[in-house]
Amino acid sequence: MFFIYNFNIMIVEYIYLKNFRNYTEQTVTLAPGLNVLVGGNAEGKTNMLESIYFCSTFSSPRATKDKEMIRFNQDYAVVKLFIKKKYHTSSIKIKITSNNKKYVLVNDLEIKRASELLGELGVVFFSPKELKLIQESPDERRRFLNISISQQDKTYFTALGEYTKVLQDKNALLKKKLETEHVDTMLDVYDAQLAEKGAFIIDKRTKFLEILSDYSHRANNKLSDNKETLSLEYDSDVSLNGNVKENLYNSLIAAREKDKQNGFTSVGPHRDDIKIVLNGNDARKFSSQGQQRSITLAMKLAALYIYKKETGEYPVLLLDDVLSELDTNRQHKLLEMLKDIQIILTCTDYNLNVKGNIINIKNGKVV
Ligand SMILES: Nc1ncnc2c1ncn2[C@@H]1O[C@H](COP(=O)(O)OP(=O)(O)O)[C@@H](O)[C@H]1O
Ligand SMILES: [Mg+2]
Repeated sequence: MFFIYNFNIMIVEYIYLKNFRNYTEQTVTLAPGLNVLVGGNAEGKTNMLESIYFCSTFSSPRATKDKEMIRFNQDYAVVKLFIKKKYHTSSIKIKITSNNKKYVLVNDLEIKRASELLGELGVVFFSPKELKLIQESPDERRRFLNISISQQDKTYFTALGEYTKVLQDKNALLKKKLETEHVDTMLDVYDAQLAEKGAFIIDKRTKFLEILSDYSHRANNKLSDNKETLSLEYDSDVSLNGNVKENLYNSLIAAREKDKQNGFTSVGPHRDDIKIVLNGNDARKFSSQGQQRSITLAMKLAALYIYKKETGEYPVLLLDDVLSELDTNRQHKLLEMLKDIQIILTCTDYNLNVKGNIINIKNGKVV
């Protein structure tokens, strides 16, 4: 088959799976534009999206342990993707083993740091479960920020890793509940490092959210026909006015006695949140399920546009069971908005009046 590629769009051309979830061994060729994975329940549609997501972010959107992705009773799994980008093609291969080892190869060369994988493949994943972005605890919203920003900004990913390491060391010390002078000297060192790296993280997040807020607002209105006002704000106990590093440091010092008693650090970007406001009210408390669905989808689309803005290329969009949740009008609007980029979507029966590359999946096989 011959395809004309738009050069600003990233494309997964080919997938190879070995012992991944319910796939024994499978290859799949994808097309630019719309790809539709069709099959009944529990046949392996989401598993295939998961394999793509895994190669982009190094993590699963649902598994808590990598080895859950290894086919039952097997001791390793492999995913390999071939990717076509603006100026070159590349491959990503990840092997995970039942004894918790992970091998990552980019263009057949083994890489040692996760950050080297970032940027190889951009993805945005959306499923009905993303409502948790609004409904659940701040962890979900921080995860969204961390993954979205890391994908386009390695310095953020690195700072986040460093911050987390210092935080773990500091909390380990706090948990010991020692009362010596030495402890305070150590805590001073940790807090100075947390303030420095934390302020960097907060700065990146607030800048990201400013654009995300604007894009999400527009995407939400496009999807919903309504004239609603959506805004996203960074929500922190640390003052964002003036010198954030100093503010964060002062907050850490102010919380120190309490944190010593509790055995953990109670302020900093690891506790921050996104405030989602629809028409002036907290969307978590005052919006309908339909509005929440529209907001979360809008936030994901906004992340996709920002990825394009920052990297010059559109990422791949993975849509899991999303179409069934939208009425026909919205389905068409969504696909119209995204018509140039590569979309891989799943559904149980495909009756859309839109042309796409149909891939039928049954019991862990493409049929
Ligand atoms: N590690 C695994 N090994 C083998 N099969 C698995 C594994 N994890 C999940 N499955 C199977 O995958 C199927 C679910 O696949 P999924 O992609 O979620 O389905 P759907 O097509 O509904 O999206 C279930 O039958 C489940 O038993
Ligand atoms: Mg599924």
